[in-house]
Amino acid sequence: MPGRQRIKMDKSKRKTVIAGNWKMNMTPTEARKLACELAEALSCTDTAGSVEVVVCVPFVDIFAVSQVLSGTPIKVGAQNVHFEKCGAYTGEISAPMLAECGVTHVVVGHSERRQYFGETDETVNLRAKAALETGLTPIICVGELLSERDAGITEEVVARQTKLALAGFTAEQVKRTIIAYEPVWAIGTGRTATANQAEEVCAYIRQIITNLHDIETAEAVTIQYGGSMKASNAAELLAKPNVDGGLVGGASLSAAEFAEIVKAAL
Ligand code: 13P
Repeated sequence: MPGRQRIKMDKSKRKTVIAGNWKMNMTPTEARKLACELAEALSCTDTAGSVEVVVCVPFVDIFAVSQVLSGTPIKVGAQNVHFEKCGAYTGEISAPMLAECGVTHVVVGHSERRQYFGETDETVNLRAKAALETGLTPIICVGELLSERDAGITEEVVARQTKLALAGFTAEQVKRTIIAYEPVWAIGTGRTATANQAEEVCAYIRQIITNLHDIETAEAVTIQYGGSMKASNAAELLAKPNVDGGLVGGASLSAAEFAEIVKAAL
């Protein structure tokens, strides 16, 4: 984006995180099988210290997947969390419930939840805060619609979503947060953002965090790209200085493909 002053960022100051988002796929039996295949596919890959691998599974799969992956470096995440700890919220799941089941990460504000389930910037903020207060890592999703990109307001949309999601967070809380830039037009469409498009917006998000807090905080935040990431395009995307990992949908449903994406991040 012309005229922007780029801050040179040091990638070693933050974690690279490859997270699979299984969405509403896999019964517990299927989930156990996929988790076994993934553990096997990554068994000879030393990710320690360089890449964190997470699978964000449906709530009902958490128990089965945690059992299979215990003793492996692969972590288990959820796909949503309510912001209250307990109470009369039929059908909801709280952060303490997830934590006790061994969950370490939770996706918050995915565009599918914003589009189909009434998720707002305000509830994204509340959910992420609840996750952090329970020691979970929120993976906060932001990203523009195709109509917004075409209208030239990508930055405006992403800035609003990022600022409101992080409202009231301390610098320490921001450092424990993952942001996933997922352009809605690239999700499930096979139309991946180019590496330059992904880099441009991820760098912009880091600039927003710098403005909200400081460079040290911004440098510590993992910013992922998500949207039709697959084995064939992962390396190019992940080579960009501000792309610190991926949030992978469809390609995470194949152990072999997802393992290739993890290897591309090493
Ligand atoms: P796809 O990788 O299937 O495009 O999905 C991306 C996504 O929404 C991950 O959260």
